[in-house]
Amino acid sequence: MNLYKYVSDNINKKLGFNANLEVPKNRDFGDFSTNAAMVSAKKLGKNPRELANEIMPKLQELDFVENVSVAGPGFINIKIKDDFILQNATAPKPLKAEKPLVIDMDYGAYNVAKSLHIGHFRTSIVGDTLNRIFRFVGHKPISYNHMGDWGRSMGLVIAWFQKLHPDWPFFQENFDSNGDYSAYTVSAKELNTYYPSAATLAKQDETFMEKARVITAELQRGHPGYTALYNMYMPISLASMNDTIKKLNILPFDNDLGEKNAAKYENQVEKILRKKNLLVKSDGAEVIVVKKKDDTAPMPPMMFRNSRGACPYDATDIMAIYYRKITDNPDKIIYLTDSRQSLHFEQLFRVAELADLFPAKDLEHIGYGTINGKDGKPFKTRDGNAAELDDIIELVKEAVDMRVQESGKQLDKDTIDAIALAALKFNDFMHSLSSDYIFEPNSVTSFEGKTGPYILYTAVRLNSVLKRATGKIVLPNGYTLTSEERNLLIEIMDFEHTLLSAYENRATDMVANYAYDLCQLVNNFYHNCPILREDIDDKTKAGRLYIARLAFDTLATVIDLMGLKIPQEM
Ligand code: ARG
Repeated sequence: MNLYKYVSDNINKKLGFNANLEVPKNRDFGDFSTNAAMVSAKKLGKNPRELANEIMPKLQELDFVENVSVAGPGFINIKIKDDFILQNATAPKPLKAEKPLVIDMDYGAYNVAKSLHIGHFRTSIVGDTLNRIFRFVGHKPISYNHMGDWGRSMGLVIAWFQKLHPDWPFFQENFDSNGDYSAYTVSAKELNTYYPSAATLAKQDETFMEKARVITAELQRGHPGYTALYNMYMPISLASMNDTIKKLNILPFDNDLGEKNAAKYENQVEKILRKKNLLVKSDGAEVIVVKKKDDTAPMPPMMFRNSRGACPYDATDIMAIYYRKITDNPDKIIYLTDSRQSLHFEQLFRVAELADLFPAKDLEHIGYGTINGKDGKPFKTRDGNAAELDDIIELVKEAVDMRVQESGKQLDKDTIDAIALAALKFNDFMHSLSSDYIFEPNSVTSFEGKTGPYILYTAVRLNSVLKRATGKIVLPNGYTLTSEERNLLIEIMDFEHTLLSAYENRATDMVANYAYDLCQLVNNFYHNCPILREDIDDKTKAGRLYIARLAFDTLATVIDLMGLKIPQEM
């Protein structure tokens, strides 16, 4: 049951107006509170405390209310009956949305011929958890790995191939598209070095850069040799991406369709833009002006076609909206990238609105902060490079392994992997999305405090009690709650409300904080309310098992929403 909603709806009905129901930080004085008396008193010109005293008896009439009290200048505290809590607490079930929305989600968005690095971490795991949350609350997310597979980076990669292997057939005048070129290949590891190397060279060497630009435009026009080469390395890169993604335990993407797919719709989109007179020539390029009269911040035009006739990142994003519109026809499109791309998305949304492609109000960019090292700069590996995701995962696994060895425990590899992943992901979720945070492999792996391992440990502990219990778990008649049991059940009944807020605010930290609070209460319960001990009578045992079961099911749901796995033992 969504306790908050139930209480709120009933109070509103009783009072005949919408009272603002709050969950106090400290619930010792009431499970909920409202400032309704203070708000109404202001309107009516009455004394708030007096009005609160008038409202009190009405609320007291509600059958789930234990008692009502007035605090401070006129806050009303409401305490719920124990029995109501016990009878109505349920394990979470997927919800039905009043109006289920089709939501295209653009996250991950990896680049071909480039390993996944720390910058892809948040978009991947937060995108995945939002996807799971959207599903859970009853919407229909469709995920897109909008790959960087068609822009300048491809020109750079092909130019690098040519630099290394000028004699390969792909670069010859007489290239035959029907030939067998299976002998020409590259390992994923090597391929992943090409883009970074080429990009570094292009910065210093304008001739090389120019070559990459030309190649990009030619590839996009269907140059047979470049196309064959592209078709050779593309699947190698995709497989390498998928290897890394798998380690993150995220749901498979519904679509691995990126810039190249979008570019197929160049003509259709161009037609739309021309009709609306939106394409403007500028230094040999074609751009779309998105500046508005009242803009104070800089708002450069969006590039539709560059001076070499190639279709840049800006343009493929416009085309991707068109593609999604004609295929999924979504209610919303949500993008998840580093906040440094905010301007790009602001421009894009303006174009979508100007061209009548998609209402800007249903386009959403969620920008996130960077993950920094102790020096406050973007996290780097020991060699000073932007840390690759594989390396970071390895680093955290090592840290977990060390801790486990120190504690004298023996855990198998899968368990270590699950703990490491929890450490890494939970630490991210716990921070608000928009802020940067400092990543420190050793602190995130602690089994105590606000960490992923602590969350898993709590679940493992509950599960081991449940596994030891024999017989069916049912709520005994006439059970009386201890305060620890009561607090835990109230938290369980807050799950739905929390999840809906996390959905509305696109806030993974709300889910992580909920998991932590729940675990604190579970551990309080565990320490103060022995369950299977010999001296515990049958009725108490049954009641506590019933509560432990609800707690475990709730915690397991939250853990699953975060894309974590509960090990058998820890
Ligand atoms: N591949 C891009 C990058 O790594 C991110 C793409 C985000 N999605 C989009 N539709 N622009 O920066």
